Amino acid sequence: MRVLVIGSGAREHALCVALTNDPAVSALACAPGNAGTAAVAEPLAVDVADPVAIAALATGWQAELVVIGPEVPLVAGAADAVRDAGIACFGPSEQAAQIEGSKAFAKHVMTAAGVPTARSWAVSGPAELATVLDEVAAIGEGAPFVVKDDGLAAGKGVLVTPDRDAAHAHGTAVLDAGHALLVEEYLDGPEVSLFAVTDGTTVLPLLPAQDAKRRDDGDAGPNTGGMGAYAPLPWAPAGLVDEVLAGVLQPTVDEMRRRGEPFSGLLYAGLALTSGGVKVVEFNARFGDPETEVVLPLLETPLAGLLMAAATGTLADHPPLRWRDGAAVTVVVAASGYPERPRIGDPITGADAEGVLHAGTSVGPDGTVHSAGGRVLAVTATGPDLAAARQTAYERVAGVRLADAHWRTDIALAAVEGRIAVG
Ligand code: AMP
Ligand code: GLY
Repeated sequence: MRVLVIGSGAREHALCVALTNDPAVSALACAPGNAGTAAVAEPLAVDVADPVAIAALATGWQAELVVIGPEVPLVAGAADAVRDAGIACFGPSEQAAQIEGSKAFAKHVMTAAGVPTARSWAVSGPAELATVLDEVAAIGEGAPFVVKDDGLAAGKGVLVTPDRDAAHAHGTAVLDAGHALLVEEYLDGPEVSLFAVTDGTTVLPLLPAQDAKRRDDGDAGPNTGGMGAYAPLPWAPAGLVDEVLAGVLQPTVDEMRRRGEPFSGLLYAGLALTSGGVKVVEFNARFGDPETEVVLPLLETPLAGLLMAAATGTLADHPPLRWRDGAAVTVVVAASGYPERPRIGDPITGADAEGVLHAGTSVGPDGTVHSAGGRVLAVTATGPDLAAARQTAYERVAGVRLADAHWRTDIALAAVEGRIAVG
């Protein structure tokens, strides 16, 4: 099978590594890729925001399966363009990708499907913003405010703060930018990312993972695209995956199909295990980053066959997923200035070592690897348990050199120390 992966992050590097390990894959390419994917997949050039260019590339390269990594091409309709060209594609249609592209759309689907989520208020102007913040404060009994930009913001459009003035300022900035604004009820409790592979009817959940959203140790600092992740979750309640399948994933996939907008590809449920039960924080329409970097190394089932079954509507006939024992941890090495103003163009050494997945890197004419994005590397390790995987991941981080790099030193630590409690 000739497989083309679209995207250029550590998620795509992890996808490429898993795909090269599937004996059914005869050729693998990644566009536009990065310095890491180039070591395992043929590098091709493409503008990920251009569905026509993606479909033309897939046709020209004679791809038999296209796997679309990021949300931007999906929301632009790249999966539709690839399928229109007669090529199987793992990824939802433009319509179905709205479940990530519009938080208001996702709320409508959840309401119709009876899926538990935070109460939310769509705010259309400055006067309404003040009223809604007062209403939320009255209901919330001191809980933080949650103020969201309703659109793709790479995890950075949300402000969670106890400070009403800061909440008001963020909301005003979103409105001033001409974006739609949502205010939400605050969800307490630990967060879980649960991915499911679906063909629009059958849903196969993967292993639950947790990512670290804040930039700094102790969950301090601004929200980021994700600073690290681990899987599985030793503290997760027994039956969590079955509960989320029955109460969240299957009803959502069924509701999308009922609407005439079937969702096939990867449905990512971002969940909060609150004192009032499991609630959806958000849906994404693609593999999460950095969770993919820890989930895929634990998957024993060949990946290309699984994704092809989802792309061709034959998931009901696919054998149950098999998982390796043990755990995986990934630590994101970010550039100086991330997330606000990441510095790029710095040389990196040690980036070809085992477990080092590339997020934002490029190769110079002399063959040296440079930083090319805010999140630069996702340094990953597996081990017999979480503590062992964590130790190896940090040993690998110590082998990497990038000037003024920043990484969290506490990825998976609370889980290893048994400090995470549910409800
Ligand atoms: P989102 O862009 O909706 O994924 O939000 C990014 C992050 O903000 C989430 O992963 C949570 O950590 C936090 N967040 C979003 N919505 C809520 C909420 N209603 N209550 C508490 N935290 C939230
Ligand atoms: N890990 C967060 C995301 O992929 O959106």
